[in-house]
Amino acid sequence: MSRNILITSALPYANGPIHLGHMVEYIQTDIWARFQRMRGNTCYYVCADDAHGTPVMLCARTEGITPEQLIIRVAEEHQADFADFNISFDNYHSTHSAENRHYAETIYRSLNAGGHIHRRTISQMYDPQENLFLPDRFIMGECPRCGAAGQYGDSCEACGTTYSPTELKNARSVISGAKPIKKDSLHYFFALRNFADMLKKWITADRLQDEISNKLDEWFKAGLQDWDISRDAPYFGFRIPQTQDKYFYVWLDAPIGYMASFKNFCDRSGVSFDEYWAPDSKAELYHFIGKDIIYFHALFWPAMLAGAGFRTPDAVFAHGFLTVNGQKMSKSRGTFIKARTYLKHLDPEYLRYYFAAKMGAGVDDLDLNLHDFRERVNSDLVGKVVNIASRSAGFIHKKSAGRLAAIHDGQAPYSDFIEAGQQIAAHYEARAYSKAMRCIMALADQANQYINDKQPWVLARQDGHEQEIQDICSTGINLFRVLITYLKPVLPQLAANSEAFLNCSPLQWHDIAKPLADGHTINKFKSLMTRIEESRIQAMLKDSSPTTAPIHDIPPIAQQVQFDDFAGIDLRIARIIKAEHVEGADKLLRLTLDIGTETRNVFAGIKSAYNPQDLEGRLTVMIANLAPKKMRFGTSEGMLLAAGPGGKELYILHPDDGAHPGMRIT
Ligand code: 2FM
Ligand code: ZN
Repeated sequence: MSRNILITSALPYANGPIHLGHMVEYIQTDIWARFQRMRGNTCYYVCADDAHGTPVMLCARTEGITPEQLIIRVAEEHQADFADFNISFDNYHSTHSAENRHYAETIYRSLNAGGHIHRRTISQMYDPQENLFLPDRFIMGECPRCGAAGQYGDSCEACGTTYSPTELKNARSVISGAKPIKKDSLHYFFALRNFADMLKKWITADRLQDEISNKLDEWFKAGLQDWDISRDAPYFGFRIPQTQDKYFYVWLDAPIGYMASFKNFCDRSGVSFDEYWAPDSKAELYHFIGKDIIYFHALFWPAMLAGAGFRTPDAVFAHGFLTVNGQKMSKSRGTFIKARTYLKHLDPEYLRYYFAAKMGAGVDDLDLNLHDFRERVNSDLVGKVVNIASRSAGFIHKKSAGRLAAIHDGQAPYSDFIEAGQQIAAHYEARAYSKAMRCIMALADQANQYINDKQPWVLARQDGHEQEIQDICSTGINLFRVLITYLKPVLPQLAANSEAFLNCSPLQWHDIAKPLADGHTINKFKSLMTRIEESRIQAMLKDSSPTTAPIHDIPPIAQQVQFDDFAGIDLRIARIIKAEHVEGADKLLRLTLDIGTETRNVFAGIKSAYNPQDLEGRLTVMIANLAPKKMRFGTSEGMLLAAGPGGKELYILHPDDGAHPGMRIT
């Protein structure tokens, strides 16, 4: 029976470009959407720009334009990027839309009527110069615990402590540099705990990957907190009904954007919105997201929907982050690659295939190793798959004027190829794309082996083998057709080019049981895909190389110090000889540092930025004469130096070649 499915990818923020990290998710979702459609299911795939919030407002201000102008421009850029990566959205909308205002207000009103919205006054940091409340990330200062400078308002990247922004020492507004003051204001809260029972049931019904369920258990144990859903003016967003100056927090109306985009689509296409969102809906609803936004999608979102009388999602599929050459994407290494930069140099299908070949159903990070990328695409797609068509087509044209012979569909190898389809489909369905790609490439090997064994080029040198050659090569062409069908969710462009070459109608999953008919004429073979040249990759990296950081990302210069203050700090070159995770610590890694004369045990808040195994063996810089500090996990005997705002954006320092452990920095 054909299924009705609605799927979404997370909505990208409207203040920045799409990069390859984003593309992991859109490619993953798009492959699934295309697969479902090829199987004969109805599968709508919708998305939108996430247009609200302080960062969008400030970004527009920096550019000297209105938020409305900014989000229109960014929406165009985003959509061009997605279109060029062949992402097959049925609709792309915006959270700053009439539909989204409607559903945000509707959901809010229901939650309020149900007694799930509470109001209370809280005290927050306020920029008296800019007259606005400062989100945690817009405040910087010194850690109240270890004193590290340049820390954000929510947590210290150096020692891992979390705190409230009011505790930060020498705090400064990142926007104006002014000293923030504390200011009271009335906030609106969503009482998540009212939904604890509903959520417990919801998350146990096989809706989440195991890793995610475990995380949720932790959150449940920690207790469900009220969620602050209001922000004070000035704020770019929707005003909360019956208030003068309160706005919905961007994360309140972001997931509602899924509904809004779908509603906008329904109004244009005649599809029934209620069939997909009513509480008794029989349609399937899935959200593809990154693992960093699970809390919003697996707790707040189902609770909001349930509280407002809508259906809840059938599942949330989370994925990991993208690394490039084993490390987080980095502007300085030129591996922070924008979608547009990639497209300028390389074919989108290469990346679609490479991601698919490495993507499983879990939340592991995915590494784009550029060397492996080139090898894999060249060898699998050009060397194996396309090769089957090119080596078969020549003979079919030379020997039988492009006409195919009837082939034995009940016999190997064709029957093997059809049989494998079930397994491949099961892998796609389970989002185990890497397994699907492995099966497909094993079939491609089998097809090439078949042609190698039959040696049509040897037969062609003798007379009287025309029929045999036509049979062999017709089998080759038909096997190619099956392979392209299996690859079509991943490689829609290669599939379209192949359909033109095969002179056949758009390939559908269930059509391939029947091979192309006796006498079917194929077109002349034209190159279907070219090899990746190393020079294209290098050009892309060059194009991605450092640009200056946006001015509001740069923290203000700290208070002046005297030379003696600096000279008192003993900075040393250290080699990281061991790096390991710390049980129970979210941000810390335990490092064993060799500083020439001794080794030191140091806890560094760089867990979000580095995999321990990538650090071992590297040289870096540490403060060697910092008083030892007792921490929950042990004593830290010094401090590592790293640059950047924190979180994933953190870069340890490393000296030029020739430096060795123990050298003092002077
Ligand atoms: O994390 C993000 O990039 C958000 N803009 C995702 C929003 S997803 C959904 F809830 F809208
Ligand atoms: Zn600290």
